[in-house]
Amino acid sequence: MMTLTADISPAPSISQRLTLNDIKSPVSAELKEFRKYFRDSMKSRVFLLDQVIQYLLRQKGKQMRPLLVMLTAQASGGITESTYRGAALVELLHTATLVHDDVVDEADRRRGMFSINALWKNKVAVLLGDFLLSRGLLLALDHKDYDLLHIVSDAVKRMSEGELLQIEKARKLDIDEETYFRIISDKTASLLSACTSCGARSANADDAVIEIMRLFGQALGMAFQIRDDLFDFGVTDVGKPLGIDLKEKKMTLPLIHALGVADPKERKRIMAIVRKNGKSKEDIRLVSRFVEDRGGIDYATQKMTEFADSARQILTSLPESASRQSLWDLVTFTISRRK
Ligand code: IPE
Ligand code: IPE
Ligand code: MG
Ligand code: MG
Repeated sequence: MMTLTADISPAPSISQRLTLNDIKSPVSAELKEFRKYFRDSMKSRVFLLDQVIQYLLRQKGKQMRPLLVMLTAQASGGITESTYRGAALVELLHTATLVHDDVVDEADRRRGMFSINALWKNKVAVLLGDFLLSRGLLLALDHKDYDLLHIVSDAVKRMSEGELLQIEKARKLDIDEETYFRIISDKTASLLSACTSCGARSANADDAVIEIMRLFGQALGMAFQIRDDLFDFGVTDVGKPLGIDLKEKKMTLPLIHALGVADPKERKRIMAIVRKNGKSKEDIRLVSRFVEDRGGIDYATQKMTEFADSARQILTSLPESASRQSLWDLVTFTISRRK
């Protein structure tokens, strides 16, 4: 077990009160229906593919994106047939990008289990990701959901750009805060804002409401990824490898901030470790302690809170409802979650 830095989990009183199950309650019947729909949308007659998909279905994710689609649809007019397709579409694309992401990041764990690449190697993971992506796109095409297809395809494009910009910066190591925000906006907030836009669109909401929902998803997505990046510096088991961003030379907000306030000599010492291939546990521990000591964790937590506050602020322009309350609680969950 690595001994890293302090516990980064905010106020336990909040996380104890808010479970994802409570948040799901206004749409729990619809989510049950969605799960069946999602499972059916992945079927294949190729034995190897079917085997991998069975495994994938046992890897339980939070399904936060379908939840977002359902809640935004309900908060902006009501769930329709196309809301289910929107929810399945985003979860298929999300799953595809995670399978690919673990190849890119050389990660051997996902959702508390072995990753696909760890068990079946990169070849299978790459092809499985492509299969899931195309299943999602076909689902929308088959039902002529062109609006949803447009919103989601744009997000997929941005996700690839974000991941590639991240690779570019991991090579050059010249990332600044502004570029970090661009990366997380593209690789993560893009899909969460696609979820909220799709939800509103599927409820036949007017353009103003769709725009409000898009902005809400964008702010939520930024907070979501900062939380994910904070996990990497923590010690809590979140079902995927810790310290992996540093190993992969992925410089995230806590480290970027800490380097910005450090003196040149210290910065040089830390950058020498960041640049190293094959970092030891001791290397990771050293950088993590530096980040903590230089206020990097506090700073990133503050930025995450600002994005969460602005997400909640955006929600106040919608009429009150049980689903709006759940969206509000989902913001709180996002920044206090433990996985
Ligand atoms: C992980 O997303 C990918 C990021 C954008 C950080 P989630 O944390 O929502 O993944 P699952 O679906 O619950 O496993
Ligand atoms: C987010 O990036 C993944 C995508 C947006 C595809 P990360 O690499 O930080 O995600 P995790 O931490 O592996 O889930
Ligand atoms: Mg990753
Ligand atoms: Mg991560």
